[in-house]
Amino acid sequence: MLQGFNPANQDIQVYIDGQLLHRDAAKVSVFDSSVQGGDAVWEGLRVYDGRVFSLEAHLDRLFDSAHALWFQNVPSREIVVDAIRQTLEANAMRDDVHIRLTLTRGVKVTSGMDPRLNQQGCTLIVLAEHKPPVYPESITLATSSVRRNSPMSIDSKIHHNNLINNIMAKIEANQAGADAGLMLDKDGFVSEANGVNVFLIRRGKVRTPWADYCLPGITRATVLDICRAHGIPCAEARISPSEFYVADEVFTTGTMGELTRVSAIDGRAIVNKYGESVLERVRSHFRELTRSAGTRLV
Ligand SMILES: Cc1ncc(COP(=O)(O)O)c(C=O)c1O
Repeated sequence: MLQGFNPANQDIQVYIDGQLLHRDAAKVSVFDSSVQGGDAVWEGLRVYDGRVFSLEAHLDRLFDSAHALWFQNVPSREIVVDAIRQTLEANAMRDDVHIRLTLTRGVKVTSGMDPRLNQQGCTLIVLAEHKPPVYPESITLATSSVRRNSPMSIDSKIHHNNLINNIMAKIEANQAGADAGLMLDKDGFVSEANGVNVFLIRRGKVRTPWADYCLPGITRATVLDICRAHGIPCAEARISPSEFYVADEVFTTGTMGELTRVSAIDGRAIVNKYGESVLERVRSHFRELTRSAGTRLV
């Protein structure tokens, strides 16, 4: 599944450090840390009828990630929220909008790895696009040979822009003709797909891998909350790929694509032997939330 160019985004305005610029003029410096080392943190946000879904949770994760990476002179929460509001207003965007919010370590005084070369504070970018949930009705996964980062290397709890780990898995999925790469941990248990968290449902029980080797996704947390609130059995667990093959239902979660059914993994069709679709129950509760919850910004 390949996203395309949406002509509605032809003339969007992008926020960079206090300025709103046409997409063709919106640029970062060659001295910016994101260019030099992928040294940035980011969030994907979705806007429903003028409300940003789970805004506070996304901002918490952004600021936690920046703190873990020792970013200095981080803009305040008020500045970031105001930048998002300004961007939505400038583009008259209210619905079916995806925002890529990026905070880089900022511009360096000269090329180099040392964060002490960053003496001007962070660079804040708000890129909002017209983008309905991107995935089709269902997607396929292919297990990747690339293992998901662990706290032994780069902690996957930091939502950083150093995405090569995931991009390598996506390349493998592309080569295998699948929509996304299923990534495992160092012991061969499932961690997540290259850009989304994964869940399985077996005999009515929802399970997802522990967040040891995956981004603790905000949609993932919302799904677990929904299950608990509506009496749907759920658990975090160590789960092997073959447990995913034989599940009744498998789905992915993420802000970009919401909840998406997985129809096959490594060529094994996911067949529902249970009957009732628990995924549809969870999904309808999720839609209820997106119709009412969130922080109104425009
Ligand atoms: C690697 C990875 N996993 C999972 C997710 C889904 O997270 P969320 O539900 O917070 O959008 C993302 C989203 O950016 C991601 O990059």
